[in-house]
Amino acid sequence: MKFFIDTADKNKIMDLMSTGMIDGVTTNPSLIAKNGDDMAETIKGICNIQNGPVSAEVTAIDYDGMVEEGEYLASLADNVVVKVPLTQEGLMACKTLARLGINVNVTLCFSLGQALLAAKADATYISPFVGRLDDTGENGMELIRDIVKMYGLHGLHTEVLVASVRSVKHVEQAALLGADVCTIPPKILLELYEHPLTGKGLDAFMADWANTGQSILPQGHRGMRDESKRLVLGPDDGSFAI
Ligand code: G3P
Repeated sequence: MKFFIDTADKNKIMDLMSTGMIDGVTTNPSLIAKNGDDMAETIKGICNIQNGPVSAEVTAIDYDGMVEEGEYLASLADNVVVKVPLTQEGLMACKTLARLGINVNVTLCFSLGQALLAAKADATYISPFVGRLDDTGENGMELIRDIVKMYGLHGLHTEVLVASVRSVKHVEQAALLGADVCTIPPKILLELYEHPLTGKGLDAFMADWANTGQSILPQGHRGMRDESKRLVLGPDDGSFAI
């Protein structure tokens, strides 16, 4: 399962890129507004620092406006994915943009029927919002299970991108259910590393090691790593020089 990072904050993306865990980025108008910077500049900036897919959402809600904005957003960088809302006009725009060779992420999906329509409109990704469904008393992950099953039954190629992720459990369940992508807020990604027994175990190892008085590296050992060739993990080939 691919990990996208759900933020428009370039600094947070840069920090998390070095973990080697990030395969792409998703943004939306609320995240852009929260960040406070110009949308086109933000998207270009994010595309510059990593080459995974970057979802940029249209803000028009009519067909012509969405296609026009979509074409503009796609022109900003090769890895832009245009995000359109799951409305009738949004799916018409999706079909047109797909015909133009532009990858489209259909967002604000809350039902199986909507996910079926998005696949028929040639969406590259469908984004069901699990957290917002949970908020209404439904079970968001049940929708993921059903979409994965339906796409599998019909051989549909649209990728299931789990969005509105609120917990580590959501990420774990998305992986278990066979989702293609999970877009994760930075805070939740960092929580994925954590387990109380890992911290406790490490403390015990360190305490026992300190008692031995040993050091793995011999005294006077000179570092063997060339800092100028320090590598940061990237999404495709595993690494790129910084
Ligand atoms: O990118 C869309 C999305 O993940 C929204 O999440 O937490 O605002 O429901 P949230």
